[in-house]
Formats: sequence, C-alpha cells, structure tokens
Amino acid sequence: QKGGFKHFMLKEIMEQPQVIQDGIAGRIDDATQEVVLDEIADLPIPGRLHIIACGTSFHAGLWAKYLIEEWARIPVQVEVASEFRYRQQVFQEGDLALAISQSGETADTLAGMRIARENNLPIVGLCNVVGSSVARESDGTMYTQAGPEISVASTKAMCSQMVALLLLAIAWGRKKGTLSAEAAQQLTGQLQRLPHTLSTELERMRHAAQRLATQFSKARSFFFLGRGLGSPLALEGALKLKEISYIHAEGYAAGEMKHGPIALIDSEFPTFALAPQDSLLPKVGSNLQEVQARGGKIIALTHPGTDIPSDERWEVPQMGSALDSFLFLPALQLFAYEMAVYLGKDVDQPRNLAKSVTVE
Ligand code: M6R
Repeated sequence: QKGGFKHFMLKEIMEQPQVIQDGIAGRIDDATQEVVLDEIADLPIPGRLHIIACGTSFHAGLWAKYLIEEWARIPVQVEVASEFRYRQQVFQEGDLALAISQSGETADTLAGMRIARENNLPIVGLCNVVGSSVARESDGTMYTQAGPEISVASTKAMCSQMVALLLLAIAWGRKKGTLSAEAAQQLTGQLQRLPHTLSTELERMRHAAQRLATQFSKARSFFFLGRGLGSPLALEGALKLKEISYIHAEGYAAGEMKHGPIALIDSEFPTFALAPQDSLLPKVGSNLQEVQARGGKIIALTHPGTDIPSDERWEVPQMGSALDSFLFLPALQLFAYEMAVYLGKDVDQPRNLAKSVTVE
C-alpha cells in the first residue's frame, strides 16, 4: 500500500512528478499549446474572485492570487472559510467563488460555498475526491487528479491544486488578452518539463532534508520566511513542520519580520528562508542579514549562484517564475517529514488531527 515507503506522507511527496503529469494531461492542446479547461468553459470569467479554503488548500489559494492577479488582472480575495462564512460580505456583479478542498468535505468550506450560492455567485470547485460535496455543490468542478491522499499532512494535494490554479490563471489571462500567447506557451512548456526535473531531484532533496534534520531537530521554534510566491509557501512550510513534528513554527512574509517577530530571534531560533533567484532576492537577503546580526541560524532554500546570508545553503535547480514553487514545496515537505521521522513522531497520524474536518 505504501509502495515500499515507510510512510504514506513520503510516498505522496515522491508521487508529485506524476501528480503534475496527471494534472496537465488533457488540459494543454497539443497543436496550439493553449490551456483548455472544458469543466469550466460555460462559466463567466470573473470580474472579482473569492477564494474560500482551509489549511493547506488556503495556502494554495494565497499562492494563486499572485498568478491570477498578474496574468489575468482579476482582483482576488483569499479567505479562510471559517472567517468568510461569518463576515458581512460585500458582493458585487461579476463576482465568482472558487472553493479549494482536497477532500471536498471540509465543513467550513462547504458553508462558505452555501453563502456564495445564496448570493447568486457562480461557484467553481477545485477538489480531489470525485463526487464529493464540493464537487456536487459547484457549477463547475476542476478535479486535481492527485489520487488518494492518505497521510493527514497534505502534500501532493497542494501540488496538484497549484497545477490546476496555474492553468486557470493562464486560461483566464489568455481569454482576457492580458497574457500573451508567447508568455502562455513558455509557461505551459516549462510545466510540461517540470515532472522530469522534479523526478530527478527528489531523492537528492530528501538527502539534503535528512542532513538538515539531524542538525536542527533540537530547535524548539522555527521561522519560515519568503516574499512574493514564497510567502504562502513559507506559511505552508511552517504548517507542515508544526503538524507532524510538533515544533513551534511561524510562517511570515519576510518584510513583516521587522514589525515585531524579529524580537524572537536568537541563536536558538532558526530561520528557514525561501530565497529564489528573482527580483525580490535582494529584499530577502537584507531581511536575512538582520536575522544573522541577531545570531539566528539560517537555512536558505535557493538557486545556484545567489548571494545571500546563510548557515546552510540548500540549492535546487531554477525553473523560472512560478514554476520554482514546484521544487520549493517538496523541499519544505521533506524537511518537515525528516524532522518528524528523526524525532520519532507518528508521521501519518499526527496527534489531535483528522484527515478531513467535517465538523465546525
Ligand atoms: O480537504 P481540505 O483540503 O478541505 O482540507 C483542508 C485542511 O483541513 C487541510 O489542508 C489540513 O490543513 C491539512 N492537515 C494540512 O496538512
């Protein structure tokens, strides 16, 4: 069942190249390279998008906001479903709701969808489980096609959601004319090459994570920092670490550090930094200098050739723009996994947690 792996979580992390392959299958036209999303072809392009989700699915939504706003120029509001459902919403003509849920049965997400329904918003569901409540209550369902996810800690599901959301951002951008055919083709080409690159890297990444786990397992707390697309990934890295290793972890947009959290930094409080080679790298670098100046140890997940402060550099190949996230995500997952294994925790069944949260 675990395919020779010690835990479902590790199996599911390692399945991600296939998950990406399956997520794009049939969604990129061979001849034109255009993205084709038949499932939502009848739904309008939103004037404004409300993304409703919880946990890891919420982080995928935060990540997608950057892409949808940049490529499709659609304003996106991303909210945890438990807040969305109890807030006095201001809806307007042209709004559309997008519910993201691996299980398709999360109570708060379903309640949020029902509020969108009462207000006559068209609803797109992005979920993994075929025939789930989210799928049944949506006007159009995009399946993530990740296969069953058994481990309580969600891993491959987020990867599959990011693939679908990236395709959605391209599709809307192309329909609106805000994304050029050349730019879209470059992205889909990169996406098609991604499974191969990831499959050749994952084992190496696991060894790096194992080595770091032996060094950092005594930490009582961790920061995860990133900017831009790295900021929701930082939240996800922190969530993964805390839920399976029970180490206190906080994910922050790196620029927020000096507004308070940096007070916590000392030699016992390490930082895991997401530092891709992009236009925000100098900004991340100066945040890390501030961490180092206070004696904080730094693991920098980065690309070859970057110049940033760190105690441990963890280099992964550069894919370009949004595609880099698909290598950073498994690195964060593997780091949390190896930390939990090293500490002897019950990785697949962490305490106090259920796979699907079907009650409020
Ligand atoms: O099934 P859903 O995607 O709606 O689940 C949402 C969260 O409960 C889920 O992502 C949770 O945060 C995971 N344990 C994270 O690893």
